[in-house]
Amino acid sequence: MPALVWIDTDMGFDDILAMMIVAASSKPIAGVSLVFGNAPMDAVRANAAGAASLLGWRFPIHIGAERAILGGVETPAHVLGPTGIPTRGRSLPEADALPHTDALTALTAWLEGLDAPGEILALGPLTNVAILSLARPDLISKITSVTWMGGGATRGNHTASAEFNAFADPEAVAIVLTSGVTLRVADLDLCRQVLVGPEDVDTVRAVGTPKAEILADLLGAYVDIALNSGRKAMALYDPTAAAAFVAPDAFVFEKAQVTMELSGTHTRGRTIVDQRPRANPNALWGMRADATRVRALALDALVEASRA
Ligand code: RIB
Ligand code: CA
Repeated sequence: MPALVWIDTDMGFDDILAMMIVAASSKPIAGVSLVFGNAPMDAVRANAAGAASLLGWRFPIHIGAERAILGGVETPAHVLGPTGIPTRGRSLPEADALPHTDALTALTAWLEGLDAPGEILALGPLTNVAILSLARPDLISKITSVTWMGGGATRGNHTASAEFNAFADPEAVAIVLTSGVTLRVADLDLCRQVLVGPEDVDTVRAVGTPKAEILADLLGAYVDIALNSGRKAMALYDPTAAAAFVAPDAFVFEKAQVTMELSGTHTRGRTIVDQRPRANPNALWGMRADATRVRALALDALVEASRA
């Protein structure tokens, strides 16, 4: 029976930690598709190859969209640097380049081969999922849900108004919202309920292996994103979405009508969430997370990987 889980990712550090959580769960991963986002595709591919080498990943990794539906390549280089994964010292190992296998071809082959519908965890811009839904609308019924880290009901992070994954390709979000897929959204406000701080970096480093040193340096640089802006801890973005994927009972999701702003001068990329009685729900919006459980999933995955 083919594995029923697919991960679409722009392979930053929080993506890697999210994938570690899924890899440690009872949900075998059928495949991974890469999308631009945290960095341009060349860097995303290098990050994927390095993470696979460090963590012993055996699932296939395929190359997806290098630019948004309208052609742009937005990245948070001003925060994450050119690689998309800053570090306090050590980095992912240099690894042989991934073979160029096409993500759309692989994703459609996976869905066509499923006896039962599969689940997708989307951790970057929704470009690959949007292209799939346009190219093969017949396969939407083979997807039980797409759990996506993206959007923000209140404040943005990439702009004051918009979360990065949404801002990087808002047309893709609008396409997915009308595709008929069940979209479960782990937005910024949900992820902000789950924090990671300097003490967690020490926990990982205390494992004392070379792998622990690398993962602690990467986690430390992720935490530094918050520390460098005067906050005491950093939100766990993609790992919270991964936890919603592997442990849905640790979350409360509610129906909502989600609209993507495509044209606002200051609000392009903003997700508008409507739960008024007159709303016409088109998504499930994450409202509450059991932060203790999510943190445990993330830290356990880091410590276990560091020991391996
Ligand atoms: O806004 C946070 C999201 O943007 C995360 O998925 C991070 O990895 C980047 O893709
Ligand atoms: Ca991501």
